[in-house]
Amino acid sequence: MLTLKEKNVLVTGGAGFIGSHIVDRLSGDCSVTALDDLSTGKAENLSGTENVEFVKGNLDDFDLVRKTVIDADIDVIFHIGANASVPNSVAQPRYDFNSNALGTFNVLTSCLDSGVAKVVYASTAAVYGEPVQTPIDESHPLHPISPYGASKLAGERYGFAFKETYGLDFAAIRIFNTYGTRQPRYVMYDFIQKLRANPHFLEVLGTGEQIRDYCYVSDMADAFALVAERGHGVYNAAGGNPVSIKALAELMVSIISPEAEIQYGGKTWAGDVNTLYADISRIRELGFKPKVGFEDGVRQMIAWFEGR
Ligand SMILES: NC(=O)c1ccc[n+]([C@@H]2O[C@H](COP(=O)([O-])OP(=O)(O)OC[C@H]3O[C@@H](n4cnc5c(N)ncnc54)[C@H](O)[C@@H]3O)[C@@H](O)[C@H]2O)c1
Repeated sequence: MLTLKEKNVLVTGGAGFIGSHIVDRLSGDCSVTALDDLSTGKAENLSGTENVEFVKGNLDDFDLVRKTVIDADIDVIFHIGANASVPNSVAQPRYDFNSNALGTFNVLTSCLDSGVAKVVYASTAAVYGEPVQTPIDESHPLHPISPYGASKLAGERYGFAFKETYGLDFAAIRIFNTYGTRQPRYVMYDFIQKLRANPHFLEVLGTGEQIRDYCYVSDMADAFALVAERGHGVYNAAGGNPVSIKALAELMVSIISPEAEIQYGGKTWAGDVNTLYADISRIRELGFKPKVGFEDGVRQMIAWFEGR
């Protein structure tokens, strides 16, 4: 078992939504370096955290990644930085490839001649594609249907190949939908924004029947710390409580604007999947216990939106 306390850790994508919460989670115990190109991340996400070294740069730049790892004498890498958007990957597949597949390859190769003891990789439920059975466990077939899913799976595969070939300790978390403070996009943010703009009406893309398994972001940060210390192989991480988009829309309306009418808009975006519901037994066995309930988490996100 590895102990994170007093280790030098690198969080790629550390100024982003999940990455900055991992930085928060670790900064009390570890010496943290955050590498981020600020393409979607924000420097202000790190402003409340002391003792964090920030490096602005792109994961597609191998020399920079390697220099960062060596200069900070990194022990553990939380590789979170990536293009995290399916629609972006559809519109710009080469950009997605460079950030995600090449970026991960650069992180992994930078470990080969340095003192890195472990890499924990942010993979995604998108590697499964449209599920053939639910709940989805880690042995579910891998069939990504978007460039994003493919580039993230490439990173995961390279990580495990580096483990086999070079003995690099590598573990991956297949993240299901994560939400919370500092998430300035995706469905929850869109709903809040739409209801603020027009408190009488909420348009929902799709039928509302889509199923998601939301995990609050501080629980996801706990999952990363846990897998860094004790994990081997690949883990799903999710809240363990599937909800429909319809139930989410109704909850948001009841909190923000109870009189609003909800209208469902039929077709969703390319690369969207209908049902994402995780079997999280494997990470639960490691000790993972999501702490933030769904309604509580949604209220925290709305409060953050109001306070920006
Ligand atoms: N949010 C989710 O529900 C979810 C679900 C599945 C997987 N993930 C994975 O979690 C990770 C974090 O996602 P997020 O939701 O926090 O998104 P995010 O966009 O907030 O975080 C990604 C961070 O990486 C940075 N980044 C992107 N490309 C980069 C590059 N080429 N070089 C350096 N920095 C770069 C961005 O500026 C950003 O700060 C991603 O790897 C994503 O694939 C997220």
